Amino acid sequence: GKESTVSITVVGASGDLAKKKIFPALFALFYEGCLPEHFTIFGYARSKMADAELRTMVSKTLTCRIDKRENCKDKMEQFLERCFYHSGQYDSEGDFAQLDKKLREHEAGRISNRLFYLSIPPNIFVDVVKCASKSASSLNGWTRVIVEKPFGRDSESSATLTRNLKQYLKEDQIFRIDHYLGKELVENLSVLRFSNLVFEPLWSRQYIRNVQLIFSEDFGTEGRGGYFDNYGIIRDIMQNHLLQILALFAMETPVSLDAEDIRNEKVKVLRSMKPLQLDDIVIGQYKSHTKGGITYPAYTDDKTVPKGSLTPTFAAAALFINNARWDGVPFLMKAGKALHTQRAEIRVQFRHVPGNLYKRSFGTDLDRATNELVIRVQPDEAIYLKINNKIPGLGMRLDRSNLNLHYAARMLYIPWSRAVKTGSRLFLEGDLQDARWEICKPLVADKDPHKVFTIYFEFCARREDCEMLKHFEGVPASTSKQFPNQVG
Ligand code: BG6
Repeated sequence: GKESTVSITVVGASGDLAKKKIFPALFALFYEGCLPEHFTIFGYARSKMADAELRTMVSKTLTCRIDKRENCKDKMEQFLERCFYHSGQYDSEGDFAQLDKKLREHEAGRISNRLFYLSIPPNIFVDVVKCASKSASSLNGWTRVIVEKPFGRDSESSATLTRNLKQYLKEDQIFRIDHYLGKELVENLSVLRFSNLVFEPLWSRQYIRNVQLIFSEDFGTEGRGGYFDNYGIIRDIMQNHLLQILALFAMETPVSLDAEDIRNEKVKVLRSMKPLQLDDIVIGQYKSHTKGGITYPAYTDDKTVPKGSLTPTFAAAALFINNARWDGVPFLMKAGKALHTQRAEIRVQFRHVPGNLYKRSFGTDLDRATNELVIRVQPDEAIYLKINNKIPGLGMRLDRSNLNLHYAARMLYIPWSRAVKTGSRLFLEGDLQDARWEICKPLVADKDPHKVFTIYFEFCARREDCEMLKHFEGVPASTSKQFPNQVG
């Protein structure tokens, strides 16, 4: 048959996301031989830029894996030669028609498949999709669109957005990406659980006392406040990344590994959860802070953040899944910007050993004796299990050790290859999206957002050890409301 080609257009090419993630990821795909033989990448944005300038910009962000440094430079050059730029407005069919013309030149009569990656704010998704589908969609191959969250601000706006996109696209052309699902250890979660005998039998309320999902960054908005201030940490991280991980973690065994079967199980988890209660959440915003002679700015010091903004940059919440497996087990989420450390982790805390023979060796602090399974998604990927152990020698002294699976090699960021091929479990269907908004409903109601968090506004999120967070360590096994709303 006729040869085919893929044209990838990164819309919003000069933005932060494109620079930080998308171009490096496309390069990683290229390096690994995952892109088709014939492909072209177009950056699309409003600013005027020559192809050479785009290439210079992109080249600064490319890296090779440590274990694959040889011919790195050559590969980069080959990749950059395939990158082009087209300047245009986001709502101009004429500008997209110009892009179409250029794409056709590169496609040179082959079957043309076209992928548009929307690396732009959600308020212009529909404009771009309209113009791209009317003026720049493929006439003989497929046309697909990848959108990043935030997919709306709540259930209603998410549904409206889907409706509007569907004026121009069919559901199977829309790929809603959650890049956390592409992280190595998140993908490994199911492998760990379903292909090892030792974990799955423990995976329930009978043995697990709480599950913690932690996202923390050690930097603030730093000039990205324009986007962030409109959404806040709950929409930016919890409603999507953390709830996705939670659903994967807690789901029943799917019928198969097909995307559809996994989705069905995830939906059941999400639908078994009651919406977040205001009593079970604490929110905060980072303040200015001086350490080692350096003063770090407060959230509201960011020039791109409106004066006096009350948008939460930190949230900690307890969620519950009302099903037979998880009844009463708190899923504790915490997410924040400008905290002490950068990490994303799942911590599974197990219950106490009933009638523990070695109780005395732990003194009064039995929490110290419980097993904990830690899945560190980043940085420095690792899976380890904290176990109790005898210190060798005379007497009976106990010690906590880690059974440790430490990932030495750095992981690649490559969820995109699947969009080029077909739909997959890394992408989210509309109904999952909706179930996740439902859970966050009380918190994303725009009616009176201030009421929710002025209570906690004075609460500093930069100190990871501040009062409230203590509730995350060693949560007692029997109570369901470990999570008081009074702080300090
Ligand atoms: C994005 C959020 O989805 O994820 C950002 O919008 C956040 O606010 C980013 O910084 C974190 O992703 P990663 O892969 O760098 O941990």
